Amino acid sequence: MKFYIEKDYKGMSRKAADLTADKINQKKGMILGLATGSTPIGLYQKWIEKCKKGELSFRDVKTFNLDEYLGLPKEHSQSYWTFMQEQLFQHIDIDPTNVRIPCGDHEDPEEHCKEYERELDACGGVDLQILGIGRNGHIGFNEPGESFENETHVVRLAEDTRVVNSRFFDDLSEVPTHAITMGLKSIMKAKEIILLASGDEKSEAIYRTLFGEIDSDTPASILRLHPNVSMIVDEGAAAKVKGQI
Ligand code: F6R
Repeated sequence: MKFYIEKDYKGMSRKAADLTADKINQKKGMILGLATGSTPIGLYQKWIEKCKKGELSFRDVKTFNLDEYLGLPKEHSQSYWTFMQEQLFQHIDIDPTNVRIPCGDHEDPEEHCKEYERELDACGGVDLQILGIGRNGHIGFNEPGESFENETHVVRLAEDTRVVNSRFFDDLSEVPTHAITMGLKSIMKAKEIILLASGDEKSEAIYRTLFGEIDSDTPASILRLHPNVSMIVDEGAAAKVKGQI
């Protein structure tokens, strides 16, 4: 595993953009795995800047997002579909037909999960997966206790995740209780993974990911079993591992 410590959020985002832009340009038909949340916004802004300057193109890229809230139609202001349009897709040269995000209001979510995984596999899997990490060590919406063997599936959100994410909603009661997420097994199929983390509140999760047991108490610990992972964190998120790596 490669581990980069950058000074702050800006540095983390810049490093992530530097590590990914050439790969995206060079691999024809790249399959890109994307995350939502606060963490990758700076990276997406860098990609947008590069795209506007003609240094980066998403014309041949196909994307698969990690997750979506169950019960939110894509037009909902807090759906991850809306997030991705606003934070990235509207501003880059991607073909909208090449974008995949789990459908939050599908009439048969279980069947939809199977279809999502089948399509992912049929494309040959994700070439480059971008991940954030939850304070509880979740990746995607794979909460502590999730089996490492899960593919795309419906999950019940941990209560602390709902509380953390309630900052985007008017009230905690509006935060969905369930989501669709690519599973840990789906994530591990990616050929390369880049995990980003910023801020002190992520430092414990980063510590447990790197030095705790590899088990479902810290879902991100599974990444230690993957052959091609880079972590880019800022000093806040590195606080508990600095000097040990
Ligand atoms: C979102 C996702 C989540 C987030 C995590 C961190 O698609 O996969 O695992 O990456 O909850 O969220 P932020 O970046 O808001 O701290």
